[in-house]
Amino acid sequence: MTNAPEKQHILITGATSGIGKQLVKDYLLDGHHVHAVGRDDEALAELKALGAETIDLDLMDREKVIAAFDKISQIDVAICGAGMCEYLDMPNFDSSVFMKVMSVNMGTLSHAIEGVLPKLIASKGRLVGIGSASAYVPFARAEAYGSSKAAIHYLMKTLQISLAPQGVSVSLVVPGFVETPMTKQNDFPMPFIQTPKQASQAIRDGIASGHDVIEFPKKLTLPLKALGTLPDLVWQRVSEKMNKK
Ligand SMILES: NC(=O)c1ccc[n+]([C@@H]2O[C@H](COP(=O)([O-])OP(=O)(O)OC[C@H]3O[C@@H](n4cnc5c(N)ncnc54)[C@H](OP(=O)(O)O)[C@@H]3O)[C@@H](O)[C@H]2O)c1
Repeated sequence: MTNAPEKQHILITGATSGIGKQLVKDYLLDGHHVHAVGRDDEALAELKALGAETIDLDLMDREKVIAAFDKISQIDVAICGAGMCEYLDMPNFDSSVFMKVMSVNMGTLSHAIEGVLPKLIASKGRLVGIGSASAYVPFARAEAYGSSKAAIHYLMKTLQISLAPQGVSVSLVVPGFVETPMTKQNDFPMPFIQTPKQASQAIRDGIASGHDVIEFPKKLTLPLKALGTLPDLVWQRVSEKMNKK
């Protein structure tokens, strides 16, 4: 475990739902100061009543994000969890869906990074981005979501190198499946699905331990990661089989 200060200033995007909402609640219970970012007024009011400082913000608006985060006096940990998922169904390659998923997942993250970075440099803090185990193996229908998450993996891993001289640590979170509004649309088996509480615990433990990569549950992420490193013919067979189910 790192020597983390007792009370930290934590900013969370995607705070109004699923994993992010659970993280806000748990960090508040642990006595931390939480800035909860989202657009859903009802959820923001609920988090405010629990003690969070809320920021009603569309993270796709770069100028507004930079202005809003500039007003925050201190950020020790920034967890960028906002995102979306829509699937493609071949042979209809709907490029508007592809571009929406790519731009929301990359835009919400990159605008948040630009906004929080001056604060994280000042605090020598930690930037946390959320990828996905879907980036380990190419799965049909996840052409858009998986591509956006693969890009996030690359981004967070490059920032681990490029922000080190500034004293900013960077973590990549790689969840398997978590029971949230996002996965409600999934009509396929979701092995080892986690509750938001389990996901929040794994993420908070990983951050407190200073891990570069926070993967969970390992019984899903490790085999998938290994599968993705095998010769193309091997993972292609598995992925094809899953697509036929
Ligand atoms: N659930 C899983 O199985 C799973 C697995 C792997 C990775 N992940 C990743 O984990 C993260 C959280 O997922 P989740 O399952 O908790 O999803 P979720 O319940 O659908 O929540 C998504 C969050 O993103 C926010 N968001 C989306 N677009 C936004 C925008 N333009 N501006 C501000 N906020 C925006 C939403 O806020 P508003 O509703 O307030 O706009 C919401 O709080 C995502 O990055 C997801 O890809 C999830």
